[in-house]
Amino acid sequence: MRPPAGNMSRRAQRFWWPLLLLCLAALVAAGGGQESAAERLSPYFGTKSRYEIVNPHLLREPLSLGPPQPGFPLPPASCTPLQLHAVFRHGTRFPTRGQIKKLARVHGLLGRRNGTCPASEALAGWEMWYREEMDGLLAERGRYDMSMLARRLAARFPGLLAPQRRFVFISSHKSRCVNSSDAFREGLYRALHAEQQQQQQLLQPTLESNPAMLGDIKINDTLMRFFDLCEKFVRDVENNKEALHELDDFKTGPEMKKVVERVADKLCLQADQLNADLVQVAFFTCSFELAIKNVSSPWCSLFSEEDALVLEYLNDLKQYWKRGYGYDINSRSSCVLFQDIIRNLDQAVAESKNSKPISSPAVFQFGHAETLQPLLALMGYFKDSETLKANNYRKNLNRKFRSGRIVPYAANLVFVLYHCDQVDSPKEEYKVQILLNEKLLEFPWSKKTVISFANLKNHYKDILQKCHFSDVCDLPQNATTRA
Ligand SMILES: *[C@@H]1O[C@H](CO)[C@@H](O)[C@H](O)[C@H]1NC(C)=O
Ligand SMILES: *[C@@H]1O[C@H](CO)[C@@H](O)[C@H](O)[C@H]1NC(C)=O
Ligand SMILES: *[C@@H]1O[C@H](CO)[C@@H](O)[C@H](O)[C@H]1NC(C)=O
Ligand SMILES: *[C@@H]1O[C@H](CO)[C@@H](O)[C@H](O)[C@H]1NC(C)=O
Ligand SMILES: *[C@@H]1O[C@H](CO)[C@@H](O)[C@H](O)[C@H]1NC(C)=O
Repeated sequence: MRPPAGNMSRRAQRFWWPLLLLCLAALVAAGGGQESAAERLSPYFGTKSRYEIVNPHLLREPLSLGPPQPGFPLPPASCTPLQLHAVFRHGTRFPTRGQIKKLARVHGLLGRRNGTCPASEALAGWEMWYREEMDGLLAERGRYDMSMLARRLAARFPGLLAPQRRFVFISSHKSRCVNSSDAFREGLYRALHAEQQQQQQLLQPTLESNPAMLGDIKINDTLMRFFDLCEKFVRDVENNKEALHELDDFKTGPEMKKVVERVADKLCLQADQLNADLVQVAFFTCSFELAIKNVSSPWCSLFSEEDALVLEYLNDLKQYWKRGYGYDINSRSSCVLFQDIIRNLDQAVAESKNSKPISSPAVFQFGHAETLQPLLALMGYFKDSETLKANNYRKNLNRKFRSGRIVPYAANLVFVLYHCDQVDSPKEEYKVQILLNEKLLEFPWSKKTVISFANLKNHYKDILQKCHFSDVCDLPQNATTRA
């Protein structure tokens, strides 16, 4: 018997060489073409990040499963995946109406520039092609994100995502989510169908190209947009002007002021013609053009990497106070979703124990960054020791809470339930792994990447037993209505 530590380092050695080769290959490739301004800024795009920022290998090979991950999946000789429960953010979308309006304003300001600035000249030639009707809709690229993701998941879990199975699809009512579900379902159907044809040549190809065969898409905002239905959250955070005061302070603080000045300078404008919101929308436009059209737009040349870091913090501050650790209610309002996930896993365990077929081998739920971020906070992920505030930007430069790494477009949190042979641990035959954006996630309280289902439930027993959506979210009734 070798001690476990020895095993680990051997394993590490085995992965070292391919990794090194990969890095070398990347260096050679990078030497060929210069990095564009958009690519240089792309690590700082926050919630407007393309999915490839967390999985750069996909830029080269969109169907590649990436480097091997030690410990994932659990060894097939002893563990079989029983159920997969996935929560997705929709794919790449267009800017919202509000963002498009602000962009039109900044674009209009260019006409008032005083002097000749190269960035300004380049932008004057840029066509304002966003229309207000595009308001947050899924872009074609967003369909592609979801379709490719479905095909990769099908390749990762061939036993679970098999033909002739019916899956559960649940979506927020927003069209970008319904369309994302649809694109995902289509990608999954194609993956399963292709495999089926390969394996069984005899099967008639007339099995119609009908992704709906995989199951209907059900709308459920209770699960996917719990934040809209949580009255206390709406009153105390969403509609409370004071709630985001750290964000407001940062907008007028010294770091942001310098960014506004530098951008005004590059545009031949006076600093007082711009403000943090307008500069942020210019930065968003750089990110939208990269995500939607795969181009480095002239908007990107307005920003240095230092500016981008400040703008990323601005974006994260909003996520933190509105969706993350800033207020308890942000995450507590998601317990309805967490309980639904555990209930589904519970049901699969019960069916397995009774030797019944698993009724929902895969559950796919399509929501928003605003769905995932609170859920991850509820579970204790990406929590920094330092609160994110207006006056501690420097202290938080190495923070864990970076939205772009957590919830880029098409972000996905996948719970994998396994049934494992009982040889060495008779009581722990059901195990769970969690993947974020297709990468194995350590449980927040340990360095482990696998846990027994019983321990998982035990760790979160307070949330499972004591968090009730109505207690968390309902406003007290006033005297009149109670009478
Ligand atoms: C343009 O800039 C020059 C020099 O900075 C200044 O004298 C002039 O008043 C400005 N014109 C306008 C319209 O702001
Ligand atoms: C999204 O769905 C709507 C309604 O079904 C459809 O009109 C639109 O073309 C879809 N957009 C994309 C990008 O799939
Ligand atoms: C949404 O999901 C919740 C939790 O599973 C369930 O109680 C509720 O009935 C569902 N609502 C709809 C409209 O299906
Ligand atoms: C995106 O643009 C880069 C650089 O311009 C190019 O190398 C790449 O092939 C493009 N990707 C896609 C999917 O079009
Ligand atoms: C109590 O509720 C009623 C009905 O919803 C409303 O019209 C009234 O203004 C409320 N009163 C107070 C004091 O909030």
